[in-house]
Amino acid sequence: MQTAVQFVPTDATSIAELRAAAPGCRGCELWEPATQVVFGRGDEHARVIFVGEQPGDVEDQHGLPFIGPAGHLLRRAVDDAGLPVANLYITNSVKHFRFERRGARRIHKTPEQEHITACHPWLMGEFALLRPELVVLLGATAAKAVLGPSFRVTRSRGQLMPWPASAQRPQDFPSDHEATAMATIHPSAVLRADDREAAYNGLVADLRVAAAALT
Ligand code: URA
Ligand code: SF4
Repeated sequence: MQTAVQFVPTDATSIAELRAAAPGCRGCELWEPATQVVFGRGDEHARVIFVGEQPGDVEDQHGLPFIGPAGHLLRRAVDDAGLPVANLYITNSVKHFRFERRGARRIHKTPEQEHITACHPWLMGEFALLRPELVVLLGATAAKAVLGPSFRVTRSRGQLMPWPASAQRPQDFPSDHEATAMATIHPSAVLRADDREAAYNGLVADLRVAAAALT
C-alpha cells in the first residue's frame, strides 16, 4: 500500500515544519510528474480549515493551493457567507497535481482512493497541529478523505457532523477538543454548473451554516 506515513515528521510542532518536509514525500507516484508539492496555507491559529481535492494546473506551477478560478470563487463565497476570512487555513486532500498530458496541455485527473489514502497522513498532521473547530470539506474527494469512502456529498451537504471517530487518532485531537465537519460542493463544480447562480447560492447557504456554528 502506498503511504506518506514515513515522510510526515511526527515531532513537528508547527505547520511550517510539516510544510518543509512535504517536498521529500514519495508516498505515492504523483510527486514525479508534478512540478512541486502544494501544501496547505493560512492562519496557524485557524478556527476553520477548508479541504479541497488536489492542486490544479495553476497551483502546481506556483506551489500554493486555491489560487486559480476555484480559489477566487471560494473566497467570494466565504466572504458572502460571513466566515471570518482572517481565521482560515486551506489545504487539499492530495498534495500533488494528478493530470494527463494531451499534447501541450495537462488535463486534471481525479485522484483515486489509493492517492487519498496515501496522502492522508499529511492531512492528519495538519489537523493535529491546527486543531480546528470546523473542517469544511469541499467536494467528494475531501469528504471521502475525512468521512470515509461511502460518504455522499449530494445527500448530506450543509449538515454539521461530529468529527468522525474513524478520522481520529489519539494524537490528532485532545479528548476535550470538539471539532465539527461539514461537506459542501466544490467551487469547481459551481464553475461547471449549468445554473451557476443556483449552485453558487447553494454553496453560500452551506457556508452560512458553517459560519453560524462558530461561536
Ligand atoms: N481545486 C482544489 O481542490 N484545490 C486547489 O488547490 C485548486 C483547485
Ligand atoms: Fe506524498 Fe501526497 Fe504527493 Fe503522494 S500526493 S507523493 S502521498 S504528498
